[in-house]
Amino acid sequence: MGGVLVIGSYNRDTVLRLARFPAPGETLTALGMAEFHGGKGSNQAVAAARAGGRVGMIAAIGADAAGQAARALWAAEGIDAQAVQIASAPTGAATILLDAAGENQIIIIPGANAKLALRSSFKPPADIAVALAQLETPQAATAALFRALPVVRRILNVAPAAPILPELLAATDMLVLNETEAAILAQREAEPADLALALAAETMRDVIVTAGAIGAFWARPDGEVIDAAPPCVTVVDSTGAGDAFLGAFAAFSAEGFTPEKTLRLAVTAGALACTQRGAVPSLPYRAAILALPGH
Ligand code: RIB
Repeated sequence: MGGVLVIGSYNRDTVLRLARFPAPGETLTALGMAEFHGGKGSNQAVAAARAGGRVGMIAAIGADAAGQAARALWAAEGIDAQAVQIASAPTGAATILLDAAGENQIIIIPGANAKLALRSSFKPPADIAVALAQLETPQAATAALFRALPVVRRILNVAPAAPILPELLAATDMLVLNETEAAILAQREAEPADLALALAAETMRDVIVTAGAIGAFWARPDGEVIDAAPPCVTVVDSTGAGDAFLGAFAAFSAEGFTPEKTLRLAVTAGALACTQRGAVPSLPYRAAILALPGH
């Protein structure tokens, strides 16, 4: 079984629990505050490892306590962090507003994440089946790293939504994004399956659009679409649900599961991640994903 290499961010997440989101100019009192590991890249690496993948991480962290905490997390999760870079900036941070319905609003301070680069000392790890990246680290660096990797499938999670550099798109095999990000990229509102089809036709890449409780839609440039619906869960905190999907998708796809089964398992992982607070605490383990009916 080939491994998963994640190129991406690490953030220290500060989560403020609120009854509702503030209106512009309004001051609110939080119901509580908690700190968690976060960052889309690191969350996805942890999700892939918990789904059973052999995972490596390329990230940039600061020479500070948050950076040390990141290293401790990766060691505890069995993630190979030898290629992680120490940058001349503080470790990335995120402030997350969480409302009573489990929806969130996230503000990122990139810090060291913005310094990620392809270093001349970089040696591509052997036997990588899937490389996975997001847009919280510089696109040019991701493109260079994707090009340097002899992998089977390069997946770009277009999050946070932004126009994709042509050199990065050229080095990418598959795009994964949620329905909000897909609408931004497509510059119009539409059903998730239609957005996936439109973006696949436009980019000539496989495109998966995730749509929360509705499920996920995988469109191919030739117009074929497969979909999967998640199990019904009680949503406590949706933070990290997309990361759980991506990590599980990468791990099960590296394991050689069929596209249909991989998509089904990934939406299940995303749903399970909504049932607990915090990104990393909620990322599900392989046994829990496989235990649900239909798997
Ligand atoms: O996807 C959730 C993540 O987005 C959070 O952990 C936060 O750090 C931001 O990167």
